[in-house]
Amino acid sequence: MNLFIKNIAQLVTVASNSKPFKTGPDMQDIGVIEHAGVLCREGKIAWVGRMNEFQEALPDDMPELDGSASVVFPGFVDSHTHMMFAGNRADEFVLRSRGASYQDIASAGGGIIGSVREVREASKKELKRSTARYLSEMMKHGTTTVEIKTGYGLDMDSEIKMLEAINELAEEEMATVVPTFLGAHAIPPEFRSDPDGYVRLVIDKMIPYAGKRRLAAFCDVFCESGYFDLRQSEAILDAGKKHGMAAKVHADELSPLGGAELAAKVGAVSADHLEHITERGIQALHDAGVVGTLLPGVSFFLNHRYAPARKLIEAGVPVAIASDFNPGSCMAYSMPLMMTIACTHMQMSPEETITACTLNGAAALNLSATQGSIEVGKDADLVVARIAGYRTLAYHFGTNHVTHTIKNGTLLEIP
Ligand code: NIG
Ligand code: FE
Repeated sequence: MNLFIKNIAQLVTVASNSKPFKTGPDMQDIGVIEHAGVLCREGKIAWVGRMNEFQEALPDDMPELDGSASVVFPGFVDSHTHMMFAGNRADEFVLRSRGASYQDIASAGGGIIGSVREVREASKKELKRSTARYLSEMMKHGTTTVEIKTGYGLDMDSEIKMLEAINELAEEEMATVVPTFLGAHAIPPEFRSDPDGYVRLVIDKMIPYAGKRRLAAFCDVFCESGYFDLRQSEAILDAGKKHGMAAKVHADELSPLGGAELAAKVGAVSADHLEHITERGIQALHDAGVVGTLLPGVSFFLNHRYAPARKLIEAGVPVAIASDFNPGSCMAYSMPLMMTIACTHMQMSPEETITACTLNGAAALNLSATQGSIEVGKDADLVVARIAGYRTLAYHFGTNHVTHTIKNGTLLEIP
């Protein structure tokens, strides 16, 4: 689709000159252009620059958008979600408000297993319908690419049902949808006395089936005590790689188990959470070039500790931010809200959070060659926000400033 966005008051390009991600002080460099224009042709960015340098004569029927009261950003890339689920867990929210912890609730049979019960009973059609509704809400908040994990099925049929549903949404929906297989999200109740038996089912049956049908780009594992230990996690991620899925790890979320070191060892694309990462883990991520994906909404919603964003950035780890949108640990999908929490609680600068939600998020999905910044040749995925300057996006929180989301050059007007 074609579109000319003209007279943009402030354009945030996050231009990286072909670098897949930004690290260290470069995360601060978000490539701002004042009085700018962006030309989108056939879904790609064809020109970016200052308005007074635009020379081309455009055809009369070229759709135009006036950006004179707006700031334009690259579309947000939410690289970690569990947004396909059934029902909700508002009851757990109430229990937590009375002092129960996330782990107390999980030990009592709630938590992830609560959602598993509901997803097993839901039809593929129901799962698709609720996820599509959330997807369209996310797009209204500026998200143009989203990763969706399985992990609420935990048996062969239900995990495949989730994978098929996610892949069908990827075909049908406007947003870019990236499917991740997370069969190793928790030990299902029927395997409680035989966790290795479940690991064998994941490795011998689920991964080969999903790999053969190319249903997942990534294989993820919840590497945590009480879930999957380092040995089990490594075996699962190796099996995923053997069947064409790049690795991701839920690492060091509740304890410093060494998930970050494992992510480095298996050559994972990203290590996610990292609330309890150690100095060794930080060094390992840096040395292996693994993206560290931080999920500030989880720490906020569960009142847990925050990941050491400053240490990660200072060590040169490429830091991304994602929502982790899921019914248990973060019932929110607004990327601007994640930016606010990251600035307030992790001492990230607004500029760093913008890089983390765009280019570095795309890197966490191996997509930064085509997404994550506003540069000629990349997908025309953009967000238009009616604010006075880019910092206001995170600063003025609790309201939606997005007026238009543009996906592959197609304009979506936000009512
Ligand atoms: O990333 N940590 C594991 N999984 C999710 C929570 C999922 C749930 O509670 O349903 C997370 O926080
Ligand atoms: Fe998660």
